[in-house]
Amino acid sequence: MKTVTIAGQTVPQTAALAPMASVADTAYRLLCREHGACMCTGELVSAKGLCYGSRGSAELCRITPEERPMGLQLFGSEPEFIEEAVRRLLPFQPDWIDLNMGCPVPKVVNQGAGSALMKTPVLAEELMKRAVSAAGNVPVTVKMRTGWDPESVNAAEFAKRMEAVGAAAITVHGRTRTQFYSGKADWSQIAAVKAAVSVPVIGNGDVDSGEHALRMYRETGCDLVMAGRATYGNPWLFEEIACAVSGEKYEAPDVRTRLNEMLRHIRMILAHSDKSEMLAMREARKHALWYLRGRPGAAAFRARSAALQSYAEAEQLVREYLDRFSSCEETGAAYE
Ligand SMILES: Cc1cc2nc3c(=O)[nH]c(=O)nc-3n(C[C@H](O)[C@H](O)[C@H](O)COP(=O)(O)O)c2cc1C
Repeated sequence: MKTVTIAGQTVPQTAALAPMASVADTAYRLLCREHGACMCTGELVSAKGLCYGSRGSAELCRITPEERPMGLQLFGSEPEFIEEAVRRLLPFQPDWIDLNMGCPVPKVVNQGAGSALMKTPVLAEELMKRAVSAAGNVPVTVKMRTGWDPESVNAAEFAKRMEAVGAAAITVHGRTRTQFYSGKADWSQIAAVKAAVSVPVIGNGDVDSGEHALRMYRETGCDLVMAGRATYGNPWLFEEIACAVSGEKYEAPDVRTRLNEMLRHIRMILAHSDKSEMLAMREARKHALWYLRGRPGAAAFRARSAALQSYAEAEQLVREYLDRFSSCEETGAAYE
């Protein structure tokens, strides 16, 4: 398997797990790493929150050894807070620190942070400079979009500026801020960034299969592919991509394997949560329903997943689904 070195980490050139707030938590990252994600990044953390001692922010910075290589991501728009937040991240020993310059949500862009920074490159440079100097020998990377809106696409120029002030790697999500998550990611902008800088470029946006990942490598020349939403209920995407990269045949998991993995995922959520089982199950519900997306009986399964209160109920749901599924298999009847 070919390897690639990004922010000091040498990893197989397969795919990284995208940072996803409220989705890619510790359990999710561990699961994806087990399935072959070659690296991962934590959920975005408010620089200000961390500086003001918010417990929630600090909790987002915990790294378990099996998640590594793993980076921690900050968002913010004030140089002093970014600098101090970087210092506060260091005790968590992130393998790298990523600055978020891609988040589209109003709460973030209204403070001039996230993707709003693509409109203020001088401020973005200042944040990167301060972060690099506070981080010492921990590499600092950036995750960005293609620009603010279709009229101001500036990915290549922005990436060059980030490289010039010390960014060790650049992740590009091929959408503008005004697109949020709609439309198709524009991979030509990932290629444009790759052509513009010498540091490694991670390509991101819409990768949902092994074939698609190969296409992103081919079309953009990126150093690594990063996948986000297509991993929902499908951590096997990383195995599929690894197979595609190494030319091996990929066998998709059957429904039993999928649902047993769903139960294991829930157990991991419970094991890594500080909350009561009932509260942790609220987090687990969305993951549970994703495991059967697009398959027979998904609608009923989704409705029941959305109401799960305990792990025992999840087991019961899976048992009932699989019993019915087996009897349909035996009789040749369609699962309805
Ligand atoms: C629920 C959700 C949460 C996200 N949270 C973050 C985040 O914390 N930091 C970040 O840089 N990007 C975040 N993103 C963006 C993803 O990392 C990624 O760039 C985007 O989903 C496009 O990749 P995909 O098409 O493979 O999903 C988030 C996306 C989603 C859907």
